[in-house]
Amino acid sequence: MTKNLAVFVSGRGSNLQAILNKIDSGYLNCKICAVISDKLICGAFEIADKSNIQKISVSKTFGNGFHNYSKLAEVLTEFGVDLIVLAGFLQKIPDEFIEIFKHRIINIHPALLPSFGGKGMYGHFVHEAVFNKSCKVSGATVHFVDSVYDNGFIIAQKVTDIADAVDADEIAKRVLQIEHELLPYVIKKFCDGKIKIENQRAIISP
Ligand code: GRF
Repeated sequence: MTKNLAVFVSGRGSNLQAILNKIDSGYLNCKICAVISDKLICGAFEIADKSNIQKISVSKTFGNGFHNYSKLAEVLTEFGVDLIVLAGFLQKIPDEFIEIFKHRIINIHPALLPSFGGKGMYGHFVHEAVFNKSCKVSGATVHFVDSVYDNGFIIAQKVTDIADAVDADEIAKRVLQIEHELLPYVIKKFCDGKIKIENQRAIISP
């Protein structure tokens, strides 16, 4: 059966676009029923508009065009959301919300966790830190979301060679290409019921 996704975003939305492209190509058998942001305006919302997807803004407090997290949980439950995908969402999600959708929230992080993760490690800060450490590889990680930043069970990772990268921008570009493949891959596996948690590990079956 077609699964329902909600995608959480804060910025330009290239990962959202990558998911939509994979739905259009038939690789993914799912539907994005809502795009959620901690902003009222962002690039990813423009992408949602073009695809006629419902947009919802969320904040810790209700009002001024924002839902709070308990209202959002009600709405997403009504929509029958199976999976929540954090694709560049910068706000910390309250524990109660995470509990409601336990093991149904995944995040993409633009580095190889558990290195270069945690509070303040987002966007360009990640790639700067990787560059400044003189790392020779970087990559992307998709993991389940728990109550600690970038901490939940790792589901999948992909590596890219950055030995010859001249700056953080170049690392960001290479990693983003990987993200656009890795995130849809994990979503596909989730939709096919091929991801399970066993013995404190997230396992993907073929
Ligand atoms: C991506 O690098 C993602 O890994 C990170 O934030 C960035 C979002 O990019 N968490 P986009 O909005 O999907 O283009």
